[in-house]
Amino acid sequence: MSVVEIVEVGPRDGFQAVVPIIPTADKIALCQGLLSAGVTRLEAGAFVSPKAIPQMSDVRQVLDAIGKPAGRRVSVLAPNAKGGLLALEAGVDEIVFVISVSEAHNRSNVARGTEESFADLAVLLRAAPRAFRLRLNLATCFDCPFEGRVDEDRVCGFVEQALALTPALEFGVCDTTGRAFPDHVRRLMGRLRGQYGSEEIGFAFHGHDTYGLGIANALAAYDAGIRVFDAATGGLGGCPFAPGATGNTATEDLVFTFANMGVRTGIDLDRLLAVADRAVAIPGACVGGHVRALPRHRVVAA
Ligand code: COA
Ligand code: ZN
Repeated sequence: MSVVEIVEVGPRDGFQAVVPIIPTADKIALCQGLLSAGVTRLEAGAFVSPKAIPQMSDVRQVLDAIGKPAGRRVSVLAPNAKGGLLALEAGVDEIVFVISVSEAHNRSNVARGTEESFADLAVLLRAAPRAFRLRLNLATCFDCPFEGRVDEDRVCGFVEQALALTPALEFGVCDTTGRAFPDHVRRLMGRLRGQYGSEEIGFAFHGHDTYGLGIANALAAYDAGIRVFDAATGGLGGCPFAPGATGNTATEDLVFTFANMGVRTGIDLDRLLAVADRAVAIPGACVGGHVRALPRHRVVAA
C-alpha cells in the first residue's frame, strides 16, 4: 500500500491569515485535536515580526503546550535568521524557512530581496547552536500575485542555490496563490524530483485551493512521485502578502481522496472532520474544502 505524509499547516498558514486574535488556548486545542486525529507533521506557527503578523505572537506558548509528542514532527516557519534562532531556542526539530521565487513577492512578504533572504539563511545555518531539520519553502513557484507566471528554470536555480548552502533538506514547492494547473504541477514536480531528488533531498507540494484545483494539483504532484503534501484543516489559509489567494487545500479533502485511492495517510477522517468543524468556526477565518460540507455518512473513507 502506498503511503503519503500530510503536513498540517492550518495553525501557521491558516491562522496567519486571520485578523481577529485567536485565543492561545483555542490554538493549542486545535493543534492537540489535529495530533489526536493522527497528524504526524504539524506546522504549529511562525516566529515572525509581531508587527507583520500579530496573530503569531504567542507561538512560543503554543509550542510549549504541545511539547514533543512521540513520533510526531512539530515545525515552525521562520522568515529570517532571527526567527530560526528563536525556533531553536523553543526546542523545535524542524524549521521551515521561506524564500519566494518571485522577487516582488519576497519583498512584499519578508521586506527584502531574494539574495538577502539566501544570505539570511546562510547566517542561520552558521549561527545555529545545534543541528536541526530544514525545510525550505519556495513560495510562488508557479505564479506570483505581482509578476504573474514564474519561470521553471528560476525555480531550479533557487533549488541549486539552497543546495550550495546545505546538502540535506526538504523543499516545500508552494503554489502560494492557487493559480497552478495540474500540467504545470506535474511537469515542475517531476523535473525537480528527477533532477535533484535523493534520500537527503525531498520535495513536498504546498497547494492552495483558490480556483478549486487544490486536489487536482496535489494528485498531479502525486503522479510525479511526490509523497509529502501540505494541507490545512477546514481549508484555512492564505498569505496576508499574496492578495487574491484563498486557503490551502483542505486536509480532510486530501485524506478523503487518498483513503479512497488506497493510499495511507495515517489520519482518522472522522476525527479530523470534528477538528475541521472547530477550525471553520474561528471568527474571521478564510475557510474552504468540499468534504466537510457533505453528509457525514457519505464521507466514510473506504
Ligand atoms: N521573530 C520575532 N520578531 C522579529 C523577527 C522574528 N523572526 N524578525 C524581526 N523581528 C522583530 C525585530 O526584533 C523588530 O522588533 P522591534 O521593532 O521591537 O525592534 C521588528 O520585528 C522589525 O524587525 P526587522 O528586522 O526590521 O524586520 P522587518 O520589519 O524588515 O521585517 C520580517 C522583516 C521578515 C521580520 C517581516 O517581514 C516578517 O516577519 N514577515 C513575515 C512574513 C510571513 O510570515 N508571511 C507569511 C508566511 S510565508
Ligand atoms: Zn501557503
